[in-house]
Amino acid sequence: MARKVAIVTGASSGIGKQIAKNLFRNGMDVYALSRRVYKMNELDDLGIHTLHLDVSDQEEIEQVVNQIAQEAGRIDVLVNNAGLGTFGSIEEVDLSEGEYEFKVNVFGMVKMIQAVLPTMRQQKSGRIINMSSMDGKLGNLMGAWYVGSKFAIEGISDSLRLELKPFGIDVAVIEPGAISSNWKGIAIDKLMEVSGEGPYAQMARQTSDFFALAYKFASTPRVVARMVDRAALSRRPKTRYVGGAGAKPMLWARRILPDRCMDALNVAMYKYAQKIVNKQTAFNR
Ligand SMILES: NC(=O)c1ccc[n+]([C@@H]2O[C@H](COP(=O)([O-])OP(=O)(O)OC[C@H]3O[C@@H](n4cnc5c(N)ncnc54)[C@H](OP(=O)(O)O)[C@@H]3O)[C@@H](O)[C@H]2O)c1
Repeated sequence: MARKVAIVTGASSGIGKQIAKNLFRNGMDVYALSRRVYKMNELDDLGIHTLHLDVSDQEEIEQVVNQIAQEAGRIDVLVNNAGLGTFGSIEEVDLSEGEYEFKVNVFGMVKMIQAVLPTMRQQKSGRIINMSSMDGKLGNLMGAWYVGSKFAIEGISDSLRLELKPFGIDVAVIEPGAISSNWKGIAIDKLMEVSGEGPYAQMARQTSDFFALAYKFASTPRVVARMVDRAALSRRPKTRYVGGAGAKPMLWARRILPDRCMDALNVAMYKYAQKIVNKQTAFNR
């Protein structure tokens, strides 16, 4: 039987790179896509196909997916992993930055789905796996744009699952907690650049301290890649996979606590983190 074909976006680092490796080790023919092709040399060496793709460029998506469909003859799994965290207060993040967050995290994902669907429908099979986050269910201080984009992924995925069931195509959402990668650094740099001074400076520092502490306990990308393996390979995949530092307890708290209690829990966690980080800084002086 022909090898199953998988596409992974955002495969040049962190979670996406590990997902590409895992699916390949599980016997799939893998196409790894990202803008920084040079960062995927090690995937190339393993035998994974690497191609340039900027998911904010709809024409490039069309062209790259057509190329893969022609070359491989089928597409069995699409992992929409590419994403970034635009942090900062709603008042201060420029609307164009917020639009870009959605262009990459949401519209890029939808365009990828549109591009693979004709092939998957023809096959009468396929798996679409969308990278959400525990932030797809939880509000987050200074994280409105990122959180909004991940909430959108959750809603789109739930609706899409209904649409695609009659065609034999399944949709799963991955909800990781804190994972060590480049993501946190990019998000915090953005946060401090936008809100590090001015009326939200204190909240920005609290957020930065919270991330500094939380990411000390971050899980490795392998944890997420294993969730994707299960979503891609199980005979009956679950609709959601939750894992990685903090995800299960936080999503459990979200399910049982009223909104105001959840807000209070968030504030308490951020204050506690700031206290710990300040103590550590004083100790290190
Ligand atoms: N790290 C966490 O704690 C965490 C937790 C929950 C969910 N997530 C989600 O997991 C996904 C992967 O994040 P990560 O932690 O692995 O972060 P990362 O190391 O920063 O990787 C992000 C990936 O997305 C790609 N990307 C960004 N913009 C792109 C664009 N315009 N076109 C194509 N690719 C683009 C990057 O590739 P190029 O720059 O080379 O294009 C890179 O490969 C994201 O969707 C993120 O929201 C992360």
